[in-house]
Amino acid sequence: MASLASIPQTQLFSNNPITNSKQLSSFRKISSISLIRRNPSNNFGSMVLDKVEIPNMTLKAAVTTSAEVKKGFVEEMRSVAMKLHTKEQAPREGEKVAKGPEEKSPAKWDPTIEGYLKFLVDSKLVYDTMERIVQEAPVPYYAEFKNTGLERSQKLAKDLEWFKEQGHSIPEPSDPGVTYANYLEDLAQKDPQAFICHFYNVYFAHSAGGRMIGRKVAEKILNKKELEFYKWDGDLSQLLQNVREKLNKVAENWTREEKNHCLEETEKSFECSGKILRLIFT
Ligand code: HEM
Repeated sequence: MASLASIPQTQLFSNNPITNSKQLSSFRKISSISLIRRNPSNNFGSMVLDKVEIPNMTLKAAVTTSAEVKKGFVEEMRSVAMKLHTKEQAPREGEKVAKGPEEKSPAKWDPTIEGYLKFLVDSKLVYDTMERIVQEAPVPYYAEFKNTGLERSQKLAKDLEWFKEQGHSIPEPSDPGVTYANYLEDLAQKDPQAFICHFYNVYFAHSAGGRMIGRKVAEKILNKKELEFYKWDGDLSQLLQNVREKLNKVAENWTREEKNHCLEETEKSFECSGKILRLIFT
């Protein structure tokens, strides 16, 4: 069990402690201790500004680095997401041990055209849903994320058209995509912080691991053809940076509890996307 003494002072009194999503899930389950958080501009002890509940079993790993805090909330979301990767997916930052086949390196997958088409169709349903929600903006700040240049729905429509021209039949969306799309619809109305977590993970995962997957699958079954799904109009790193800034701006208005709730949703996002990824080789 971690003790307060084992935590470097810089982390212990970080202005913005977070937990990874596993630890966050245990927030409600594990008896917790209270950690006094100080504002760096005040002397500790002279002004106590906040109290953060940290489960005592996971205290050390639960606290973020000050570098992540300085970079803004996206860095916190990224940190939680990277820890949920397996070593095979992201060797530098992944921490999980691969269990399901979709958690192994895409280099080891045996994709089929049929499976890949199911993946593309279900992915399209998820992007259609996400992009419609952002357009309708049931929560006003979703409108910040209209026309970011990261949208994938039309690109996927072109790819499916290409497969059709090649003589393949396009399947109907299957359970993983339909379930995820319905879940997003529901969250968008009821739980904006959780919805934003999915928004971040869906678009940023695709720009990172998603592209790696696209390359591997194309090498194995598409004669290296690069699909539109993996192309962006404009400079991708600039588009991503613009969205990071908007996400940081939106999250500035959230309480620490709302931020933690958003981070806590990351695990669900991996679960939903993992089920869709699995279609590639089933
Ligand atoms: C086989 C599956 C996957 C592979 C191979 C993979 C691999 C990677 C790699 C190599 C990175 C880049 C790390 C770096 O910056 O150096 C990354 C980033 C990331 N991945 Fe994954 N990933 C996979 C699945 C997922 C899933 C299911 C999600 C969540 C739904 C996800 C979310 C993210 C996020 C949010 C980032 C950070 C992107 C950024 O900082 O711009 N990944 N992934």
